[in-house]
This record gives sequence, structure tokens and C-alpha cells, in this order.
Amino acid sequence: INFGSLNIDLVYQVDHIVRPGETIASTEHQVFAGGKGANQSAALARAGAPVFHAGQIGQDGQFLVDKLQDLGVDMQFTQTVEGHTGHALIQVEKSGQNSIVLYPGANAAQTRPHIDAVLNAFAAGDILLLQNEINEIPYLIEQASQRGLRVALNPAPFSPAVLDYPLQKVEWLIVNEGEAEGLVGASTGDLIKSLAHRLPNAQVLLTLGERGAHFHSSQTQLYREALRVNAVDTTAAGDTFTGYFLAAIATERPTEEALLRATHAAALCVGKRGAMDSIPDEFQVDKSLQEKGL
Ligand code: RIB
Repeated sequence: INFGSLNIDLVYQVDHIVRPGETIASTEHQVFAGGKGANQSAALARAGAPVFHAGQIGQDGQFLVDKLQDLGVDMQFTQTVEGHTGHALIQVEKSGQNSIVLYPGANAAQTRPHIDAVLNAFAAGDILLLQNEINEIPYLIEQASQRGLRVALNPAPFSPAVLDYPLQKVEWLIVNEGEAEGLVGASTGDLIKSLAHRLPNAQVLLTLGERGAHFHSSQTQLYREALRVNAVDTTAAGDTFTGYFLAAIATERPTEEALLRATHAAALCVGKRGAMDSIPDEFQVDKSLQEKGL
């Protein structure tokens, strides 16, 4: 069960990301399905894992629900509320690098009765995946942990409030470099060791983009190199990595394989424009692995 955001992504192709005080024209504009939560549910489904998505949209967001349903995500726990669906204003420059402004909308209006009703439908041992694009994350972690659910947290986008979340109840922490620095401080030499020290009971996954990914648990330390690819749009690469990694873990594949599949999936994602639309399916990932003789 993934309890997370659903966004309408308003994407603008630009020569460079707009600077303070500057006005620029975009060269292209598209509207895509997105939101870190929704993208991660899509990645889980495309990776072949059974997944439920819980969250909220406004009247203008039904296409997001339809799209996730088409991908095989169970949407019975996503409800429509008053007001607007969350949206993201995304600039993508020529290098594929992006910059995002979020309007949280319905994502920031989650209520405790809805959360309780959703969690009551799951049982001890089920995995709850969370990001940081909805309200009530500490309550979700506490309630899930009381029910014996296993919590995976991707605290993206990072905010200082994350430091006060009940992180000791998180079983998998999935962070990029910026989020890791937010948690343990930017001047830390060895980020993965500092994270492991901060959360000694968690399994920590640190993604470093083109510099690969590290995994650390009390029993295993792993590193996986990134693939060299031409990036056209990095949006949702982290979400793809998270979804593929957890899908492999949930279906009891070894951690090495989870890292490998997530790495190939994220590399395929950056080669395509958009968020949810750029997430590859498991057969494309299998093909990419075969091409490398893996
Ligand atoms: O991680 C990418 C996502 O971040 C986009 O789809 C956008 O909606 C923002 O939430």
C-alpha cells in the first residue's frame, strides 16, 4: 500500500531554468500524470508487484486515477475531495535537468479518519510506502507501526519537518544525496555511514544519480554503478528507482537483484520525457539487463 501524492505535471521545455527576475519563453509544453506517490505506485505496478494507491485528488484529477488503474494499480483507497488536485510546475532544460514548484492541493488535505480506514484494510507484515508530498506522515508512520506494517519512507521532497518524524519506526529509508544531507548534515564525509548511524535499525538506500547507489543494512553493504545514458528528462527517475527496488524486495528477490533492476529501470526512465509515462515495464528492464549480459 502506497499512501502518497497524485499530481498533474505541467511541463515546460526551456533553454535553461529561469533565473530570479528573468522571464523566458518555453519551447514546448505538455501535461503529464505525476506526483511522487503516484509515480512510485506506477513503478511498483510496472515492475510486477501488487500495489494499492491511497491518496486524494480534486474534481480535475480523475485522469490520474484512470491511468494508474490502467497500469494495474488498485485505486479503491484514492478519494475525490473538494478543491484542486495537486500540481507541479516543471521546467526541463536541455541537459534533462529539472526544477519543480509544487502546489499541494488535495495532497495536503489527508484526514485521520481516511488514513485509519485505509490502514485497517491491511495486516501485519504488509508494506506501507510513503513519500513527503502529503500531510500526516508522522501519523501514518505511527499508526502503521502500531498495526505491524513495515514502513518504507522516501522523504522527498525533503523539508526540515522530516527531522521530527518517528524515523526509528522506518524499516527502509530511501534517499538521494540532498535528502541524506538534510537528515545528517551537508558536511558529513561518508553519507551512507552517517545515515546508518542515525537509523541503526533501518535498511538504507542512498541514490546518487549518475554516481550509482549504495545499500546499507546491519548485515549487508552493497554498491551498484549507474548506467551511462543520454538523459532527456530526469523527472521520476528517483520514483522509478524506489518503485523497482521495493517491488523486488516485496517479491522476495535478493537485494543485489533489487539494486540491479532499479538501476536499469531508472536509466530507461531518464531516456524518455514525462513522469509516469517514462517508467519502463518489467519486460523493458529484462531486455536492458539481457543487452548487458546480466
Ligand atoms: O518525482 C517527480 C515528481 O515530483 C513529479 O511527477 C512531480 O509531480 C513532483 O511531485
